[in-house]
Amino acid sequence: MKVESVGHAPDPATVRALTRLVGDLVSADAALGWTSPPAQDEIEALLAELAGLAPDDAYLLLARVDGEVAGFGYWRRYSRPTHRPHADLEKLAVAAEFSGRGVGRLLLRALIERARAAGIEQLTLDFRGDNAAAERLYLSAGFREYGRLPDFVAPDAGRRLDKVFHVLDLRHLK
Ligand SMILES: CC(C)(COP(=O)(O)OP(=O)(O)OC[C@H]1O[C@@H](n2cnc3c(N)ncnc32)[C@H](O)[C@@H]1OP(=O)(O)O)[C@@H](O)C(=O)NCCC(=O)NCCS
Repeated sequence: MKVESVGHAPDPATVRALTRLVGDLVSADAALGWTSPPAQDEIEALLAELAGLAPDDAYLLLARVDGEVAGFGYWRRYSRPTHRPHADLEKLAVAAEFSGRGVGRLLLRALIERARAAGIEQLTLDFRGDNAAAERLYLSAGFREYGRLPDFVAPDAGRRLDKVFHVLDLRHLK
């Protein structure tokens, strides 16, 4: 298993693999922000957008197992001038066939490390209230809950789930 940073727009095979990974997870009700699998164009545009930012303003990481894309994650520095010292870990996802094997923790650790190196002060993230795996992972990595919006996430017409906010203060991390 290895992680690799992507400082440029990924090649078409990687874009296809990520589109499939995200689509499969979303189809299985993963809480990644989409209500239906995103089109390849959308993933491509997102990756190009991240690649176009300065190195200390965004960081995209891929995990590969035997060459296959097993997961990805990225953070992005806040664009609002008063929030510039901070970044948001917008996505972290591991393909179902590779889950529970330490890929998510490896990605998270490397994302945090890079955020520290980039001078990020506070790393925020949010997740859906029923995402026990994500909650355990983030708490064990040192994140703490700073708020919760009840019934904010609407994955479909019938369900309303909490949106949970976590932060990790990198200034005090040993
Ligand atoms: C959350 C996610 C990234 C975890 O990745 P993973 O590679 O399966 O996790 P790891 O094997 O690295 O496990 C790390 C920790 O996550 C937690 N965890 C992972 N799977 C879990 C499960 N099924 N139930 C409870 N906790 C779980 C545990 O704390 C685990 O540490 P431990 O093994 O020491 O107990 C992955 O399940 C995923 O992509 N889910 C769908 C997308 C998603 O929800 N992303 C997060 C949205 S913000």
